[in-house]
Amino acid sequence: MRKFLVYFLSIWALAVVTVVSVAGLRGGLSRKPPLEVFPDMDRQPKLRPQTTAGFAGFADGKSSRVHPAGTVSRESARALDETATGKKADGAWVDANPLSVTAELVRRGRERYDIYCAPCHGLAGDGNGFTTKFGMAAVAKLHDERLIKMADGEIFNTITYGKNLMYPYADKLVPNDRWAVVAYVRALQVSRLGKKEEVPDAVRATLK
Ligand code: HEC
Repeated sequence: MRKFLVYFLSIWALAVVTVVSVAGLRGGLSRKPPLEVFPDMDRQPKLRPQTTAGFAGFADGKSSRVHPAGTVSRESARALDETATGKKADGAWVDANPLSVTAELVRRGRERYDIYCAPCHGLAGDGNGFTTKFGMAAVAKLHDERLIKMADGEIFNTITYGKNLMYPYADKLVPNDRWAVVAYVRALQVSRLGKKEEVPDAVRATLK
């Protein structure tokens, strides 16, 4: 029992001395560099940006590179270009698709639509896609009069930023693909707007 006490006391005394010598002098002023138990990444061989200090890696001696000529920042591209925003300079929606609406563009739009939009809006745009079976409620019907009358730029904007339960698609569809989808949504809408008189006689006879 006494032996145990001696061991205990000496280990305890050692612990006290260690803790006090490492931690006890914290905050004391000294001209010597501090004792670092874990230096972590306090000092790294790196260069601050925009300096020349002691660096010979690049021919001009600078620590950072100059942007290649003609570099356009993403922000400025966004601020400048109707095709990237769906908005005119005065903030109004772009009325009509700024890309030329070719069969090729609509085909591309259909392909993207079927992948990214049909799961909720349905292949025909009726708002009855697959996800509605799992509780995705109140998906917009793309044939609504309000959406038919909506400017192309606003639909583009909805694809870019999403709306309520609808996700934004800016990370999956580059601007040109978004316009392609807009063109295909228009094609879906037009497909519902046909009148009976526009159907060729021979086909009209077979309609129910
Ligand atoms: C996750 C399901 C989902 C997907 C995928 C989806 N949407 Fe939607 N979308 C919705 C819902 C829900 C609404 C209704 C939002 C609201 O008004 O609350 C909506 C609304 C809209 C509207 C009407 C916006 C308005 O101003 O009322 C348009 C246009 C639209 N979606 C187009 C698209 C297009 C194009 C795609 C493919 C790029 C797409 N959506 C993908 C769920 C989805």
